[in-house]
Amino acid sequence: MLSEIAAPKHAILFNKEWLVRSNNRWGLAYTSLEELIAICHFASICDGNIVEIGCNEGYTTAALAVNHPGRLIYAIDYIGTNSTMRPEQRHEMPSVIARQARNFSNVRPINQDSTTLDYSKLSNVRMVFIDGGHHFEQVKADSELAITHLRSQCGGYILWHDYDSVGPYIDVKRYIDTELAPKCQVHRILNTGLVVAKI
Ligand SMILES: C[S@@+](CC[C@H](N)C(=O)[O-])C[C@H]1O[C@@H](n2cnc3c(N)ncnc32)[C@H](O)[C@@H]1O
Repeated sequence: MLSEIAAPKHAILFNKEWLVRSNNRWGLAYTSLEELIAICHFASICDGNIVEIGCNEGYTTAALAVNHPGRLIYAIDYIGTNSTMRPEQRHEMPSVIARQARNFSNVRPINQDSTTLDYSKLSNVRMVFIDGGHHFEQVKADSELAITHLRSQCGGYILWHDYDSVGPYIDVKRYIDTELAPKCQVHRILNTGLVVAKI
């Protein structure tokens, strides 16, 4: 079932430079301040470490790292040719994974196709922020790996970015509406493009 919840009110530390990024060619900006606040809110109540799938240059990663110094942030992106990445998204591939967040001692950048991520190699992951490949099969694979992992770990939170986005990102909504919401309670966070589920 899909319901709506208000965006959390939560004070966070952030650097304005993490938000000053141009829109992409579908007119979509990257993570907004309201979204950073919501992501940091769920990180603060998740009781463990955090995976960000599709960390790109590491702007959201940096916000997670500075606001949660006691948590490890596994920053996943993939630099390589042998991935399931949709051609329309290839231009997004960062030159350095999580460049903006590498100075934080609690950040672990990982070069890995997220659809084959092995959670057993990571420590106590209790929240997953999914913002990687936006093709239906990628969103589904990332989500199912995260759900299976969290179910084996006393639960946690999954957040998806781009629920309301267009272009090649439209499959996030399609996956959530057709596959996830019929089976599990998911909440759309108002004034953001985020959806969250407690697993
Ligand atoms: C929209 S960007 C993420 C933005 C980032 N979360 C932020 O807040 O700044 C999507 C990222 O997903 C990565 N990506 C796409 N498919 C992937 C895959 N199969 N495995 C790992 N990363 C992938 C891309 O390289 C790109 O950096």
